[in-house]
Amino acid sequence: MRKISPYKLTCLLVSIIVLIWSCKKLDLTIPAPVPADPYAATKLAFGTNIDYSNLSNYANQTKPNYINNDNTTTNAITDAKATLGRVLFYDKNLSLNNTISCASCHKQAFAFSDTALVSAGVNGGLTVRHSMRLINARFANEAKFFWNERAANLETQTTMPIQDHAELGFSGVEGRPGIDSLLKKLSRVNYYKEIFKTVYGDTIVSEARLQETLAQFVRSIQSFDSKYDAGRGLVNNDNAPFPNFTATENAGKNLFLTPPNFNGNATRITGGAGCNGCHRAPEFDIDPNSRNNGIVGIIGSSAIETNNTRAPSLRDLVKADGTVNTKMMHTGQFATLEGVIGHYNNIPTITANNNLDNRLRVDGIGNRLNLTTTEIEQLVAFIKTLGGANVYVDKKWSNPFLVQ
Ligand code: HEC
Ligand code: HEC
Repeated sequence: MRKISPYKLTCLLVSIIVLIWSCKKLDLTIPAPVPADPYAATKLAFGTNIDYSNLSNYANQTKPNYINNDNTTTNAITDAKATLGRVLFYDKNLSLNNTISCASCHKQAFAFSDTALVSAGVNGGLTVRHSMRLINARFANEAKFFWNERAANLETQTTMPIQDHAELGFSGVEGRPGIDSLLKKLSRVNYYKEIFKTVYGDTIVSEARLQETLAQFVRSIQSFDSKYDAGRGLVNNDNAPFPNFTATENAGKNLFLTPPNFNGNATRITGGAGCNGCHRAPEFDIDPNSRNNGIVGIIGSSAIETNNTRAPSLRDLVKADGTVNTKMMHTGQFATLEGVIGHYNNIPTITANNNLDNRLRVDGIGNRLNLTTTEIEQLVAFIKTLGGANVYVDKKWSNPFLVQ
């Protein structure tokens, strides 16, 4: 065996000691580096509710093959952007004093409308019209939004409540800051830094990005699990009797679909109730050419407004159990479907209403459908089949914040 010289042995021993000592010393001063979590702030705010490595499905949801109307133009839904839209929709930071979000007035449990007649915004502000349900907003030919269609498209619509003095409050008037101030505010929020970086590659918060992502989230809210859909999937067209419907529901469907015929006194003599002329199955979206339906009031005023010519899809007026979600019409003046049908049964003749749809009048006189009690029951039974169940509970449309 080769003999190791005492010199070499000492050298070896010394280097081992130096190595151990330096390792110890290293351990004490520089802990092994942990890579920084790029989603630390996101996890803190949302836990696992927002997870950019495991996104919810917004982009590839299944829709029935009979649904064709779609107002998406260039802003196709992606999971990443719709998820950011969800965060924005529920974030009270979008309001001037951090108290109100879109969801304060558009509540998932009520088909994204509000149970209040008018909704509360910042600093005691109140909306002038009843909040709208946000169900199947995408699946419509009408591209304009709001009861009076003042938003040219959904993208434009989404930042209008932010700049509304009574709603989210960044109005730029009466000493209040405008939307630029909100954009700066959001760009300082750590979870937006992380999420914008992931979605856009940089942390810039712009109005165009808010519009793009909020519109994607709203367009993603879809509801096709109703009794109506189960029946419609079994037949070739809406006029065929649905095998899963009761006789009453099928009769109500016929009344809804069939136009009425009137005599010279605007009284129905034959035909149905003609609802489908404006609320078109199978989307139940509003006919873009609809004028007003005779509901011309202004909440809290005796004046009238005649330019409310849009309604959201008639789906989910009621929940699957048949209970009505919220008050109906821009005036919120009906709490029941019977009340609504009562209006169409006897359209008021208001001389100042020069924008009443021609389908609802004959020679200037408001129509009288003369529906029997049975026919009213049938129509109500049919409208109740348009309520789904999933949209009220699906987590991907729910509040993602752990605290807020
Ligand atoms: C203070 C209550 C309030 C807040 C906050 C609010 N909304 Fe609304 N929203 C309403 C009311 C009321 C209407 C109907 C107003 C009208 O037509 O004049 C409406 C209408 C809409 C519509 C039109 C739906 C349709 O079918 O035409 C959309 C979309 C919408 N809101 C989305 C949003 C988004 C997105 C936000 C958040 C950026 C938001 N809302 C914040 C009360 C509110
Ligand atoms: C001429 C077109 C037209 C016809 C026909 C029509 N509607 Fe409407 N409907 C509208 C318009 C426009 C609105 C929005 C009214 C408003 O609030 O200003 C509306 C609103 C509604 C609403 C309230 C929706 C909501 O979200 O609050 C219900 C419910 C409704 N209609 C049911 C019916 C029924 C049932 C029939 C048939 C008896 C019918 N409509 C016939 C145009 C029409």
